Amino acid sequence: MSKPKLTPSSFIGNQEEGVISFGSGQPDLPPPKEVYQILPHYRDFKYGQVQGQFKLREALAWHYPKSSAESFVITNGASEALDLTLRVLARNGDQKPNKVLMARPYYYSYPHIAQAAGMDPIFTDLIDGRIDIEDFERKIKDCKAVIINSPSNPTGRVESVETLQRIEELTSQYRVYVLSDEVYKDLIYVRQNYLIKGPHVVTINSFSKTYAMCGFRVGYLWSLDQDLVNAVIDMKSHTSMNTNILGQEMAYEATKVPSDFIYNQLEVWKKRRDLIYDGLKTLGLDLWKPEGAFYVLPFVGNSQEFVTDMFYEYKVITYMGDWFGAPGRVRFSYALDAKRIEEGLNRVGDYLKSKKKKASPKKAEAVAA
Ligand SMILES: Cc1ncc(COP(=O)(O)O)c(C=O)c1O
Repeated sequence: MSKPKLTPSSFIGNQEEGVISFGSGQPDLPPPKEVYQILPHYRDFKYGQVQGQFKLREALAWHYPKSSAESFVITNGASEALDLTLRVLARNGDQKPNKVLMARPYYYSYPHIAQAAGMDPIFTDLIDGRIDIEDFERKIKDCKAVIINSPSNPTGRVESVETLQRIEELTSQYRVYVLSDEVYKDLIYVRQNYLIKGPHVVTINSFSKTYAMCGFRVGYLWSLDQDLVNAVIDMKSHTSMNTNILGQEMAYEATKVPSDFIYNQLEVWKKRRDLIYDGLKTLGLDLWKPEGAFYVLPFVGNSQEFVTDMFYEYKVITYMGDWFGAPGRVRFSYALDAKRIEEGLNRVGDYLKSKKKKASPKKAEAVAA
């Protein structure tokens, strides 16, 4: 019997006994206890402000220069912030073509969100996992917006400060909006985050990754372009309305948690990063060492076969690079504990050995003899 074709939805939420999942991009670590300690006493079930709870926006404003609560919209995760911003830009009457530039490999929802907003995704291919600034400059002139994602899902790469500053300059010069998706900004192993700035920048962030609150769906956008912020609020008023108010209350509690929480988590991620990177390297796979986020993207050749065989024969979930615009590669998320990472690596090793055996049975027999 042929094996059914796999898509991301085949894997999301799969908790089958014995399966090791390198699939999902959600932290397995618990959120800070402060966020759920409010639960027994929580009693507010009314509609909230469409722009988001004032106290949460005010708390966020402490972390962003020259801003006030007015510069923020609290959204249903970073996903809604991306969606609303692109839909507003697609309708803003600007003469520029409705094109959005994005680096490839990309977060797999970007092209879909752009198309749903009525915009065309345009791609700049990464060189060795990094933005090729010359190609970027050639393509950006003709676009209305660009999405920057550093640290990146799926590459784990962090762009240099120099590149990010050049992007600030070029986009300002060519009057292009920057959607800076910084959902992994607190998960950088190599340096502090560099915040891309300017009146043409929309910073997008989330409580999903830093505070392990994916399911509560709280994210936000920050921009000094008040007209754009107001247009987003207007659109949100007639679509999802306010973001889940309990989630916002929990997010507010998260903003008060000491920064040690983030540093301690970063230490855990770093150990896992080393474990999976060294493990896959030892198995002979070619990959970039992640500088942030929690993904690796090794080259495997036939990614369809790899993902299918690993799932059906070895009970290991991995995501096909093709979904991220990276054919031949496979994405592993290392949002799982060290023991499971080791077990998953053993299974990948067994698979690679059996493939080698099948490819040259005589040689393998000779070795065995
Ligand atoms: C780069 C990137 N942007 C946005 C999102 C969506 O985040 P949220 O849960 O806040 O909607 C994800 C989730 O994996 C992501 O990896």
